[in-house]
Amino acid sequence: MTASHVNFATFVQTRDRPAPTSINVKRLKGQAIVAQGVEMVYHSGSQDYQVLRGVDLTIHQGDIHLLMGPSGSGKTTLLSILAGILTPTAGSVNLLGQEITQMSREQLAHFRLQNIGFIFQGFNLFPALTASENVEIALKVKGVRGASNRRRQAHELLTQVKLDDRINHLPRDLSGGQKQRVAIARALAGNPQIMMADEPTAALDSHSGHAVIELLRQLAKESNRTVLIVTHDPRLMDVADRVSSLEDGILQN
Ligand SMILES: Nc1ncnc2c1ncn2[C@@H]1O[C@H](COP(=O)(O)OP(=O)(O)OP(=O)(O)O)[C@@H](O)[C@H]1O
Ligand SMILES: [Mg+2]
Repeated sequence: MTASHVNFATFVQTRDRPAPTSINVKRLKGQAIVAQGVEMVYHSGSQDYQVLRGVDLTIHQGDIHLLMGPSGSGKTTLLSILAGILTPTAGSVNLLGQEITQMSREQLAHFRLQNIGFIFQGFNLFPALTASENVEIALKVKGVRGASNRRRQAHELLTQVKLDDRINHLPRDLSGGQKQRVAIARALAGNPQIMMADEPTAALDSHSGHAVIELLRQLAKESNRTVLIVTHDPRLMDVADRVSSLEDGILQN
């Protein structure tokens, strides 16, 4: 699987990896995301291509952290590794005090569903499902029981992103900014402590972009969530606590 194939389906999917030898459950106080020595080598044909060359990164709880860098520098790859969607060639990733790089497939799938909300590049909504149904399906995957319960919770989440008047709209009948807010409501299903977003404002005009930025800021500051955003958008720098840039496979702070 490549970084460009990462979507909602791969996020909720489990994947093959060996059983763990040990899991470090020691909680690293105040640190939501700690990556150490992360390397990623892609193999295509007989060629190896090293995208990440030893990335170290610490993100504190409640912070909004921006990850910037030129196109092709490996931002989506790194975000996918930090979310446990891709396995790094080397290095470790600790989320909320747990080494996800040591987890079994099942443990990781469970951990991801409980703790991470992922907002994908280009919305990634199911086109045949309404706004509400797109959120309800995420709630179902996250183990929320009862169709009417899921419907009520989806309505609450869509109200939180100010889309309560659009719950029965299909994605094609929503604007770009509204679709992105459905994607955020879906990522909020299950109330995860960590939100990760891949270029959340890239496809939006200035007004919709501001609304999404304000929403991401609220999610971090009012609920002490950790928000990691991959972006090219300089407007997001106003709300960020920290910015790091990926260049030549290494992170510059
Ligand atoms: N499976 C793969 N095999 C070989 N190379 C790959 C594979 N997947 C991604 N790459 C390459 O790795 C590099 C990093 O890709 P990635 O999608 O992480 O970049 P990015 O920083 O997110 O770029 P963008 O800003 O354009 O979204 C790119 O050069 C890409 O072509
Ligand atoms: Mg990318």
